[in-house]
Amino acid sequence: MAISTTSHFNSFNFSLTLFLTLLLSSTTQAHQQELNTPITRFQNYLRINTAHPTPDYTSAVSYLKAQAQAIGLHHQTLQFVPGKPLLLLSWPGSDPSLPSVLLNSHLDSVPAEPDKWLHHPFSGHRTADGKIFARGAQDDKCIAMQYLEAIRNLKGREFTPTRSVHVSLVPDEEIGGFDGHARFVESKEFDELNVGFALDEGQASPGDEFRVFYADRFPWGLKIKATGQPGHGARMYDNSAMENLMKSVEIVSRFRESEFDVVEAGKAANSEVVSVNPVYVKAGVTSENGFVMNVQPSEAEAGFDLRLTPTTDPDELRRRIAAEWAPTARNMSYEIIEKGPIRDLLGRPLMTVTNDSNPWWLVFKQAITSAGEKLSKPEILASTTDARFIRRKGIPVLGFSPMKNTPILLHDHNEHLQETVYLKGIEVYESLISSLSSFTKASH
Ligand SMILES: *[C@@H]1O[C@H](CO)[C@@H](O)[C@H](O)[C@H]1NC(C)=O
Ligand SMILES: *[C@@H]1O[C@H](CO)[C@@H](O)[C@H](O)[C@H]1NC(C)=O
Ligand SMILES: [Zn+2]
Repeated sequence: MAISTTSHFNSFNFSLTLFLTLLLSSTTQAHQQELNTPITRFQNYLRINTAHPTPDYTSAVSYLKAQAQAIGLHHQTLQFVPGKPLLLLSWPGSDPSLPSVLLNSHLDSVPAEPDKWLHHPFSGHRTADGKIFARGAQDDKCIAMQYLEAIRNLKGREFTPTRSVHVSLVPDEEIGGFDGHARFVESKEFDELNVGFALDEGQASPGDEFRVFYADRFPWGLKIKATGQPGHGARMYDNSAMENLMKSVEIVSRFRESEFDVVEAGKAANSEVVSVNPVYVKAGVTSENGFVMNVQPSEAEAGFDLRLTPTTDPDELRRRIAAEWAPTARNMSYEIIEKGPIRDLLGRPLMTVTNDSNPWWLVFKQAITSAGEKLSKPEILASTTDARFIRRKGIPVLGFSPMKNTPILLHDHNEHLQETVYLKGIEVYESLISSLSSFTKASH
């Protein structure tokens, strides 16, 4: 009896479990089918590992192409360098003779160290309070998907652009963009777009106003090298390589302080002065036990990361380097590694005008206001983006990523974005894309 009761109970329990399991699995399936939302689409893009040194461009391009097809955008894949595809999406305007609007985002990201993260950087993990963790969540996979979501929503409302709208998804920005956007702007495909205005990535704002960037700084790598008389470590004599280098390091340090003083006094932002930071020093005679302590070396070298402002005169800075930082009179030589253009094709600084004389600026500003948002004072970006390649063609570009009340986490551990911020950004782009594409007064 006891046995039979138990067995009866067990079989009841078993069928209940089976029933519940079936019920659960069918609701899970239904749930998963439902889960094709702006957030899951963003997470799925974040899960594609496009970090250097081996970005998976193939998967990223095929994912974005599928999104474009679902939305009904034209697409073409350009390849200026093998293995480095560039996806170009187009939404033709009703008046294709007008200059178009280009929305740009890079496919790649910097590497991440998974063991330093709370959630794996390519899991696209969403926390219970709606934070989405991933490398690229802020820089800059968010804007690529927000452009597409905004276009999807505008199409859903039967909006038709007057100007054509293009989205470029480009490789290699994080390693300089030379095989990506730099090639693109020189192509006939780019010329055919007849771009009148472009948006590219900006940066998160910890405050309540969006940030917007009208220029980038320009990176130079500077190596200075000194030679001099080698000698016994016990001897004091003039003009050793180390002495020559150290004199230069002092002079560079004084220049650095004079620029930094302006920032510390609150008279300029970091991005409005020329920065120079030592990044390596290389000298000494070595043996298998380390440095030889009683030999003064015949060569010494130092490297600096320099960032020029858009109005820095590069020739003037070159003269200063030659005359003061690495003079031949002190047995010094130097090498400047220039990383991209500093002036546009007409020799003007690479800056987009942010006043009433630029009608695109007025439309941009108005569209932000219409979305119920505020902008802080336009800034120079301290670092560098692909925008410089478009500005070089004389085309106005604003750097903008609609993230406010958000910590700045690009290239950092635990890069993440709050989903409410992400979703609000889609609305902001709906306002921007509809305004910029229907504005007809400026021809350029
Ligand atoms: C430059 O190097 C040469 C050769 O080592 C040395 O004789 C001379 O004193 C050096 N001059 C200076 C200014 O360092
Ligand atoms: C707008 O800014 C540009 C560049 O800074 C300047 O040359 C121009 O005079 C300004 N125009 C107006 C109307 O403020
Ligand atoms: Zn970026």
